[in-house]
Amino acid sequence: MAIAGSDDKLKWCREIGFGAAINYKKAADLTVAVKEACPRGVDIFFDNTAGPIHDAVMKNLAIGARVVICGRIALAGQFGKPDIGERFMGQLIVTRASIHGFLVFDWWHRRDEALRHLAAWHRDGKIRFKEDVLEGIERMPEAFIRLLHGKNFGKQIVKIS
Ligand SMILES: NC(=O)c1ccc[n+]([C@@H]2O[C@H](COP(=O)([O-])OP(=O)(O)OC[C@H]3O[C@@H](n4cnc5c(N)ncnc54)[C@H](OP(=O)(O)O)[C@@H]3O)[C@@H](O)[C@H]2O)c1
Repeated sequence: MAIAGSDDKLKWCREIGFGAAINYKKAADLTVAVKEACPRGVDIFFDNTAGPIHDAVMKNLAIGARVVICGRIALAGQFGKPDIGERFMGQLIVTRASIHGFLVFDWWHRRDEALRHLAAWHRDGKIRFKEDVLEGIERMPEAFIRLLHGKNFGKQIVKIS
């Protein structure tokens, strides 16, 4: 299951193999939408957003789920402040789920290995990706703003030469 903020992005998610896709901006009740998409619960939750998406998925964890905390873009304006969403300690007891922070630089020493695998999977058609390219270093601020407003469709790149 993928969660994104526009129907175009959801269409792309389905094209690249996600069995279900939810528009978090349109779902009447995100918790219910996740439950309908994953009736047996979510086994692996790669969390790039925090906020309401985090809360909705945490209420739908499967037994033994693994939660990877990678980003908190929904709280981008709240650097240094606590995340005051819902609390899920009871849910963690029931599901025996584990939560782990992820920082890309911890894995820098395996970057070449990752690139080799990713390139091979891409060559074999097993994975696909999109890039959203702006031209010129002066467009760097615009690129950041596009990320925060969901305007980028694919990895936001600024080409400087
Ligand atoms: N831990 C690490 O090592 C690491 C490294 C790099 C990046 N990150 C984090 O990973 C996340 C993704 O970053 P990325 O650079 O790969 O960019 P990205 O996936 O393209 O993320 C930008 C997208 O986030 C969505 N978004 C914006 N505001 C949102 C909100 N309030 N709630 C939910 N979704 C929202 C928008 O898509 P929609 O149209 O779907 O809203 C936007 O297009 C960010 O949180 C970033 O800080 C973590």
